[in-house]
Amino acid sequence: MVIILMGVSGCGKTTIGKQLALELGLPFFDADDFHPKVNIEKMKNNVPLNDSDRLPWLNILVEKMIHWDKMGGAILACSALKESYRTILSSTQTSISWVFLSGTFELISNRLKARKNHYMTTDLLQSQFEILEVPKYGIHVNIDNSIDEIIKHINLKLKLMKQSVFGVIGLGVMGKSLSLNMAEKGLNVSVYNRSEEGEEKVVSNFINENDTFKNILGFNDLKQFVRSLEKPSKIVIMVKAGEAIDGVIDQLTPYLTIGDVIIDGGNSYYEDTANRVGYLKSKGIHFVGCGISGGEEGARKGPSMMPGGSLDSYQKIAPVLELISAKDKNDQPCCSYIGPDGAGHFVKMVHNGMEYAEMQLLAEVYAILKLSFANEKIADILSDWHSTDLSSYLLEITINILQKKEKNTYVLDSILDVAGNKGTGSWSSKAAFDLGSVNTIMSSAVFARYISSLKQKRKSYSSLIKQSNKEIDVPHIKDLENAYRFARILNHHQGFELIRLASIEYNWNLNLSEIARIWTNGCIIRSNFMEQSVEILKEHETYFEDTVLFKSLIIKESNIKECISYALKYRIPLDTFWSAYNYWVSMTTENLSANLIQAQRDYFGAHTYQRKDDSLLKFYHTNWI
Ligand code: 6PG
Repeated sequence: MVIILMGVSGCGKTTIGKQLALELGLPFFDADDFHPKVNIEKMKNNVPLNDSDRLPWLNILVEKMIHWDKMGGAILACSALKESYRTILSSTQTSISWVFLSGTFELISNRLKARKNHYMTTDLLQSQFEILEVPKYGIHVNIDNSIDEIIKHINLKLKLMKQSVFGVIGLGVMGKSLSLNMAEKGLNVSVYNRSEEGEEKVVSNFINENDTFKNILGFNDLKQFVRSLEKPSKIVIMVKAGEAIDGVIDQLTPYLTIGDVIIDGGNSYYEDTANRVGYLKSKGIHFVGCGISGGEEGARKGPSMMPGGSLDSYQKIAPVLELISAKDKNDQPCCSYIGPDGAGHFVKMVHNGMEYAEMQLLAEVYAILKLSFANEKIADILSDWHSTDLSSYLLEITINILQKKEKNTYVLDSILDVAGNKGTGSWSSKAAFDLGSVNTIMSSAVFARYISSLKQKRKSYSSLIKQSNKEIDVPHIKDLENAYRFARILNHHQGFELIRLASIEYNWNLNLSEIARIWTNGCIIRSNFMEQSVEILKEHETYFEDTVLFKSLIIKESNIKECISYALKYRIPLDTFWSAYNYWVSMTTENLSANLIQAQRDYFGAHTYQRKDDSLLKFYHTNWI
């Protein structure tokens, strides 16, 4: 850390700085010693320096500070009167603690007069006061005290404020977990939560419950919270997506300065994120829309992170994000710059669309198996699958869920069959419609959740259906296993196609293999197949171009047919299996019946059609009547 003592000439930067350096065991530097020769000449000749004279000097200081920071820190005395100078000094990854030495004009001018050989005239001092822009952050010290008291005050504030590396706004489950994750990695973290009715104690409770972490500072005051952060400030917002994000941004921005970074770590809609990136850019503030996957446990121990926005913005937060993220099998962070604007949140949204489909496929497997088997037996069957290439986080938790008992009953059996959703699955499907991408499996999964929520209607209509007394045949487990394998491949194929098409449409230049890589750990859809996907997508643009994989799909067609026939026989809805099968059959059928659709469109709306016998594919219209 570099502690910068700033203020007008005569405020005591050098004296206090040297003393502080002694106490903290850090080297002391005077910024004036790093002026380029031309500036020194000007100063010797009493020519005042302008902003462009100062630029090379500030750049030299930036370089020096990076070095000092690496060497363990330093104290720097530097007037840094203008915010623009401080912005340049803050433009490095160096952690900075600003100490502003403040005193009245009279006090400083009297002190200067008392010094021997001082060169500052009253006019020069006056002009310094005129250009001084008092920082809204950092430690403010009144110099009308003894040096000892000043040093004591600075030391205390430094200890108390600890200039946190990161700030977290919103202490919901994810915000808390992310803060603890950072604190555990040794980072100083400041946390803030609003103190509206019912939430007054959120911060203090969190601090008390985690008092083993001495590096977490809690705030209910947003201004104090921002002040506690090193510059440039880096703040992650973990509040509900939507208007709440804009509300926080509006409250926060008055306390921020150019170069600060806001990260939205929630599941925000990617178009909203793109708008926020643009809006905050106009204020000189970086905005990163960062998809974070892995739920509570992931956020606590290492999530998969999908940051989007400008590359420059990402680079400012990369060291921390990469430190706290999950690691892949090669110990590389499951966090990678995704792309500009809302690309990070788009990719997270598609992750969730795929997640919906993966969950629904497992629910359908369960629906088939539960006709013949008890929960423990189903868990055994799935455990066998989990020891193969089918292994995944969602399969693992499903096995645990199936085994979980409360007293003598399975918890699962007590859970109402009404699935909730927070919208990301339907956003993915909408995006697919907008981009002309075929994402039937994830959208079927969304609709399956919607149907589940129509519980009362389902209950009343089901009473009108005659239940069959047919004896139940045990399903063929190998068919089911391969059908599941088949449908999962197609789900991944469709999901990555959506990302690929978005990348083309929005010019995002997304790297599909890299996205698969950061999904191999930390996130909800991490799996053995995701590991394979990294290689598949490195070699091929789409899964279907991998001939070995394609052949394996051909072989498994008979398995999924068997499962669907089985489900038809026993009236088991298989939304996602059906979708996967239909997609496969359509994609591998040369002549579909869309010629009739074209004829109908032309019939009633003269929308025209193209002909098989015209290789130029011109458009024709027929007078049908
Ligand atoms: C994740 C999850 C996470 C959240 C889902 C749940 O990647 O960690 O996707 O973001 O659990 O948003 O969404 P639903 O409530 O819509 O199922």
